[in-house]
Amino acid sequence: MRLVATKSIKPGTELAKTIYSDNGQVLIQRDIQLTQRMLNRLMELGITYLYIKDVHTEDVMVEPPISDELRMEAVKTVKNSFTDIQNNDYMKRSFLVEQAGEKMADMVSHIMSEMKGRKEVISILSDVLISDDYVFSHSVNVTIYSLALANEMGMPSKRMEEIGLGAMLHDVGKMFIPDEVLQKTGKLTDEEFKIIQKHTDEGFNYLRKANNIPLLAAHCAYQHHERLNGTGYPRGITEKDMHPYAKILGVADVFDAVTSDRVYRDAMLPHEGLEILYAGAGELFDKNLVEAFKKTIAIYPQGLTLQLSDGRSGVVIKQNPHLYERPIIRILKENNQPVREPYELDLSEQFDIVITSCNTDL
Ligand SMILES: [Fe+2]
Repeated sequence: MRLVATKSIKPGTELAKTIYSDNGQVLIQRDIQLTQRMLNRLMELGITYLYIKDVHTEDVMVEPPISDELRMEAVKTVKNSFTDIQNNDYMKRSFLVEQAGEKMADMVSHIMSEMKGRKEVISILSDVLISDDYVFSHSVNVTIYSLALANEMGMPSKRMEEIGLGAMLHDVGKMFIPDEVLQKTGKLTDEEFKIIQKHTDEGFNYLRKANNIPLLAAHCAYQHHERLNGTGYPRGITEKDMHPYAKILGVADVFDAVTSDRVYRDAMLPHEGLEILYAGAGELFDKNLVEAFKKTIAIYPQGLTLQLSDGRSGVVIKQNPHLYERPIIRILKENNQPVREPYELDLSEQFDIVITSCNTDL
């Protein structure tokens, strides 16, 4: 399969990965020939990239960090718990937050055990899941990234459980922000931004009162927008006062935010998202964490077409363990001309060749 920009796909192209709704329903089944209507709808929904079938890359697969079933179940659990909390009054909310804590803790242990068995670096880009609210899938993605990063930093499983729970619930406070502010796609006024910022305190206040939620998980909600140099919110605390979990969550949160599909802007590719983190490394994000995070994600995911400095281009077919910025690719073109016999090139053995760009047009 190949990863291409939705806007460049012609009708009749076959979809390589099933697209789901956040209720776990199949929206478009894999192998189906996409129609112009489907493509228009997907673009309206803000889906920037799709995996499509292609004769030269039929054998190329991406193993997701957790199974589609578990991811779907996790998103559904977040959705049900969060909307329940939103739709009830203050008295019932505390009870519902506790209940959510129990369900999420359960989900985190499932996610941890599935992730343990998988060796591949993370590529979430391929999991197309259309949600009516970004917060639900974002919570699950941030959990996956945070757990991978915590694991890379050598954290014991007890602490990973805490950070996983904190990640699942980090944006629960958004359920108390009025929809018209939360869903606004244009530029926010200062007043609106102040309202959005409240999701950190709101989340913390509910979570810290729940008996079954560790206080440190509540602090994940409180501190995930704080930055090392004090430019974050709500308190503007600096590096020394930030909990390590919050530093991990900050990295995972920003990476998912910029690489996720949103209606009002294109999703960034992983290598671009990583650049955003590097730009803030040391100032906003912990440098060591950014370095560690780089080792957990597929910088150039399978299926992506890379343009090389020597005029050749090809599709990523495999990651190189320990050298993720130099994947193995299948050359399909030389100087813009299709090659007769596609062949493989291991970029980890070709240091004189540079990746000059990613080509996502079909
Ligand atoms: Fe947040």
